Amino acid sequence: MASKVVRWIAICFLVASILCVNGETLTTSTPYDSAGRNYDLDGLFCATIDSNQTLEFRSEYLWTAYCDQAGQPMELSLCGTCIQVTNDSTDQNVIVRIVDECHNGGLVLETDAFNAIDKDGKGKHDGHMLTTYKFVGC
Ligand SMILES: *[C@@H]1O[C@H](CO)[C@@H](O)[C@H](O)[C@H]1NC(C)=O
Ligand SMILES: *[C@@H]1O[C@H](CO)[C@@H](O)[C@H](O)[C@H]1NC(C)=O
Repeated sequence: MASKVVRWIAICFLVASILCVNGETLTTSTPYDSAGRNYDLDGLFCATIDSNQTLEFRSEYLWTAYCDQAGQPMELSLCGTCIQVTNDSTDQNVIVRIVDECHNGGLVLETDAFNAIDKDGKGKHDGHMLTTYKFVGC
């Protein structure tokens, strides 16, 4: 446990001090284009367990990659769960479903979800934003 904490702190300092600010999470975007690919999970981390889910399940929420694991690898058990992601500056939030892993220690939202909480366009301009999130039922 102690070594986990030490490792987390080390990674936190190494990756970017931005990750340590106020429990906020580095959030970037990627063009999963879930609708354009017919909500096909092929090639994504969660495909192994969620490919056989109904179209309704796969299309109900925009998608995200999740890697806010304190340096630990993403777990399959998180696949298909949902988080509500909030930008405290723009006072906007969006619910997304976890379908993938990532490697920046934060969240990688599907572009439409990122834009939904980036009212002033500053996140797009900067290439990232800080958010808080919580797991929600879905
Ligand atoms: C999906 O279901 C089919 C038929 O039940 C099965 O053969 C296949 O292995 C399943 N695929 C995944 C990724 O679970
Ligand atoms: C909110 O969004 C803006 C861009 O729109 C971003 O710069 C900022 O980091 C985000 N989060 C917070 C907590 O301000």
